[in-house]
Amino acid sequence: MKVLVATDKPFAKVAVDGIRKEIEAAGYELALLEKYGEKAKLLEAVVDADAIIIRSDIIDAEVLDAAKQLKIVVRAGAGYDNVDLEAATAHNVCVMNTPGQNSNAVAELAFGLMVMAVRNMYNGTSGSELKGKKLGIHAYGNVGRNVARIAKGFGMDIYAYDAFCPKEVIEADGVKAVASAEELYSTCDVVSLHIPATAETKNSINHALVGRMPKGGLLVNTARKEVINEAELIQLMEERADLKYMTDIMPAAHETFMAKFAGRYFSTPKKMGAQTAEANINAGIAAAKQIVGFLKDGCEKFRVNKK
Ligand code: 3PG
Repeated sequence: MKVLVATDKPFAKVAVDGIRKEIEAAGYELALLEKYGEKAKLLEAVVDADAIIIRSDIIDAEVLDAAKQLKIVVRAGAGYDNVDLEAATAHNVCVMNTPGQNSNAVAELAFGLMVMAVRNMYNGTSGSELKGKKLGIHAYGNVGRNVARIAKGFGMDIYAYDAFCPKEVIEADGVKAVASAEELYSTCDVVSLHIPATAETKNSINHALVGRMPKGGLLVNTARKEVINEAELIQLMEERADLKYMTDIMPAAHETFMAKFAGRYFSTPKKMGAQTAEANINAGIAAAKQIVGFLKDGCEKFRVNKK
């Protein structure tokens, strides 16, 4: 059996070594395709793969067609919007993610972006502090919970909205649960986004919602660029010179944001929330273990597509 690690954005070497150990201990072979750039190289590499470990790499119908032996794809991470789940089901391929394994890394980066914004992009002028500010956590999943834990250390006043997480679960963490996204944005000085990119959430972070934020509002995105209505956010930031946007996922309109909003907009060059040795080890090794469990025992825990 051949397990392919196909990561355009490679894991830390220590994580690849750990993945190799798991795969080889199970008697399987490990193949590595890193920084492949073009899809053609991925199509070539998947031909004889029984299992694939990916990150944000796109697994669409064309890749699945090329992967004749494929039985399982594990997205080493949380969001699986990069995998065509219906096509995978049609090809009889199981798709899993590794929930929670990289969430602390993403949560820590959200604070890196927050501090950078309130200290005026480290330009030396007098900024402000996070302590005492109202933080709104938009979606209370694994990353949202870590954000809440860290925010307590900063002394922030913490609010959260999650359409699917019961109020009691949020409040058990000492976080104030609000009844709607509208209430969250109207209440909070800083909003940290942790919603997945789905048909319902795409473009949902729009003028009407972000426009509710109080003066000096800061929006931090370590989730997905697709959830932002970029045209409306640009319009809003033109209307309101007090708003700031910090993101780990470069907008399609990055150049426009840069040109118009110098000093109150920043994007990392490449999505790096989960780019730590610890997150790579946790998510990568979890992915390897899930593949071994699936191939040896048929374990389908963490399956995300229909059969
Ligand atoms: C995730 O969904 O797990 C994060 O967005 C991290 O994605 P990455 O593995 O592409 O860095």
